[in-house]
Amino acid sequence: MSYEGAELAALVDNDPAKLRQAKEVFGAPVTYPSLEDLLSSSTQVDGVVVATPSAYHYRLGRTVLEAGVHLMVEKPMVFRAHEAWSLVRLAEERGLHLQVGYTYQFTKAARLLRDTLASAAIGDLLQVSAVYASMVESYYRGRPEDYRSVFGFPVTGPDPRTYSDPAIAGGGHGQTQLTHPIGMVLWATGQRAEQVMAYMGKADLVIDLVDAIAWRSCDGAIGTLGGSGTIRPGEPEQQEIRYYCTKGFALQDLSRATVEVHRANGRVAIAGPDEGDPTYPSPAPVRGFADLIAGRGPNLAPGDLGARGVEFLEAAYLSAERGTPVQVQELPRA
Ligand SMILES: NC(=O)c1ccc[n+]([C@@H]2O[C@H](COP(=O)([O-])OP(=O)(O)OC[C@H]3O[C@@H](n4cnc5c(N)ncnc54)[C@H](O)[C@@H]3O)[C@@H](O)[C@H]2O)c1
Repeated sequence: MSYEGAELAALVDNDPAKLRQAKEVFGAPVTYPSLEDLLSSSTQVDGVVVATPSAYHYRLGRTVLEAGVHLMVEKPMVFRAHEAWSLVRLAEERGLHLQVGYTYQFTKAARLLRDTLASAAIGDLLQVSAVYASMVESYYRGRPEDYRSVFGFPVTGPDPRTYSDPAIAGGGHGQTQLTHPIGMVLWATGQRAEQVMAYMGKADLVIDLVDAIAWRSCDGAIGTLGGSGTIRPGEPEQQEIRYYCTKGFALQDLSRATVEVHRANGRVAIAGPDEGDPTYPSPAPVRGFADLIAGRGPNLAPGDLGARGVEFLEAAYLSAERGTPVQVQELPRA
């Protein structure tokens, strides 16, 4: 996979065998065993993509920004709201781009949805409902190999602990998957969560396999958001969001990359992928990051969106643990 708008300058991985395999697949001119080795070397980089297991995003992301380099960090951005906002502030202070690895924002449907909601064509947001059910349970069980035939794993596939060990993944379905619809809802509506109440079910796992979250935004809109990691290979994933507003509603299907906007006057606008476009545009965020650095495009998943998603999820996990609603403003500040 290549992109004419960017040049792969180097690869970093702290596992020598994986680094060798990645070099063979992606053909990087030079490799390093650590981020610090790269940043102190003579290799010039405009941006770094941090795509390690999630627990290391904060330390590595901070190291990138402190070195004066633009940062793209995979989702979930980090686990703690105060860490997320500190990265946002650091990027602002240094005049650097900070992009989060959200993907659905790069579809035509998502852009129509956001433009419609911002234009007030269907009025003010009242309520939003999202379900995100996906094929991830074997990841949560530490058995990524179950999905080799489905995903193909161009390099090695994830480490068994990446999505199953709470210390590394930060949690289960919430951190690994619900971060996507949360990021989409907050991006499309521009909202920020004020209060969150969550229930989480683990079945026989040590992390959440199913989640049910209710929330209220700072602007007074309310929402529900839930999902399950139990979809099996061959079964259809269900990833839908419904936005109910004062003058209409919008139905977004993330797995098909479509949106239908219904106005109160009966008019319906529909958007979906162009022929040949993937429904899940997995290369788009990194290409978008290269375009952003080169001044050729906008930041479709900026750091403040990532941080709003992190505070939502931190409040949800805390709420599930306590059994009471959590105010985002109550989250630890350090
Ligand atoms: N945006 C998306 O749709 C999407 C999809 C899949 C994964 N992700 C995210 O990408 C991240 C990585 O997931 P993965 O499945 O590739 O995991 P992985 O287990 O394959 O880890 C990726 C690589 O990071 C390396 N690594 C670990 N610690 C490191 C360190 N300190 N320095 C350098 N390299 C290090 C590992 O050796 C491994 O090769 C996770 O945060 C995940 O949530 C995002």
